[in-house]
Amino acid sequence: MDKLRIEGERPLHGDVQISGAKNAALPLMAASLLTDQPVVLLNAPELMDVRTLSQLLTGMGMQVDRGEERIRLQADRITVCEAPYERVKTMRASVLVLGPLVARFGHARVSLPGGCAIGARPVDQHIKGLQLMGAQVQVEHGDIVASVPRGRLKGARISTDMITVTGTENLMMAAALAEGETVIENAAQEPEVADLAAMLVKMGARIEGAGSSRIRIQGVERLRGAEHVTVPDRIEAGTFLCAAVATRGDVTLRRCVPEHLDALLDKLREAGARITTGANWVRVQADAMPGGRARAVSVRTSEYPGFPTDMQAQFMAVNCLAMGAAHLTETIFENRFMHVQELVRLGANIAIEGNTCVVQGVERLSGATVMATDLRASAGLVIAGLAAEGTTVIERIYHLDRGYAGMEHKLAALGARIARVS
Ligand code: EPZ
Repeated sequence: MDKLRIEGERPLHGDVQISGAKNAALPLMAASLLTDQPVVLLNAPELMDVRTLSQLLTGMGMQVDRGEERIRLQADRITVCEAPYERVKTMRASVLVLGPLVARFGHARVSLPGGCAIGARPVDQHIKGLQLMGAQVQVEHGDIVASVPRGRLKGARISTDMITVTGTENLMMAAALAEGETVIENAAQEPEVADLAAMLVKMGARIEGAGSSRIRIQGVERLRGAEHVTVPDRIEAGTFLCAAVATRGDVTLRRCVPEHLDALLDKLREAGARITTGANWVRVQADAMPGGRARAVSVRTSEYPGFPTDMQAQFMAVNCLAMGAAHLTETIFENRFMHVQELVRLGANIAIEGNTCVVQGVERLSGATVMATDLRASAGLVIAGLAAEGTTVIERIYHLDRGYAGMEHKLAALGARIARVS
């Protein structure tokens, strides 16, 4: 298994180009099931999860052609409306094929995703919404088995019990081909939901309100192909911002969307970093913070536009070296502190109290061998390793490869001493 070896205490300097968003590319790929015409995604990130979904779709009969940050998908010869367990267990987002398959083909068998490192992560809201639209859905031998007795889904008013990103996306895709109007209340407002809606509209869907908590969809008979530029990855962007602050460097992110980062930028300013933004760039200067160190800043994760749960581990790494104590409260997932014990191995002072961590900043972290447990936890460990004194080796970095395209190359270009070792 690959590892990352990092020689720490080197401030990051320079420009880094942000890739397309993993959490947009995955639903956009699933949406190509809704039409027999070609869908072309540009700015598509080169990620393990994208390859995994490509394989799943190919297994269904989808034509998938990959180029340089470009994917062409065409669902004109779908033969299998199934997502088997061996695929779904490696990537929960496979459940995103459920809505499109039921909407276009009237049936689907999708393995119920198991839990994962960060929590149980059920999909009951996805199922409830499809049932409200007239699908018959039951769980058989670990599979979600859905069918549409009346032949076509019917629009419905759906209010999810909690805000769910992929739940909103699945139901919005299903509603696009349903008969009549669907209203999704309590919808997720993440930029990736709005990006999916933007592509669906290019395909001929009639959608209003995506990006707000109420999405209204008028179903249509069929959808056409489209070409779409994947929205930049706000979590990759946030990860590099935190790395720049933790190493007290000066980094400019290119091809990002600053307004998708507002909650994080506010917290980094509060920590003492100097942030400037333009139309599609963000510069963070952390080489002259008052006292030469970041100030501890507390956060509470919440759904967009709040502070993202996907940035909690990375921001915790910044707080490990800050002046003072910070409280980090995780409200979305029930077990998203797997990085804490690994950070403690690097010398951090962190206490877990229920769904809150109290981080007492220390002057220095000291390099050690640590283990990645999930995608964003591994990003937090990279940031801590970049700031720690001496050598840090991060094991099981296949977690990192799921969501970051060539991270070690981008960091090395910013001056980090980092290399992948097998
Ligand atoms: C999406 O996961 C993201 N993944 C996650 O990013 C992200 O952490 C999460 O949203 C929250 O922002 C993709 O977009 C592919 P949810 P998702 O449904 O949709 C509960 C990363 O690192 N829930 O919004 O699976 C659920 O258990 C990944 O890139 C139900 O109970 O998350 C969780 O506690 C990690 N029943 C909360 O809601 C349901 O039917 C939010 O989950 C659905 C969700």
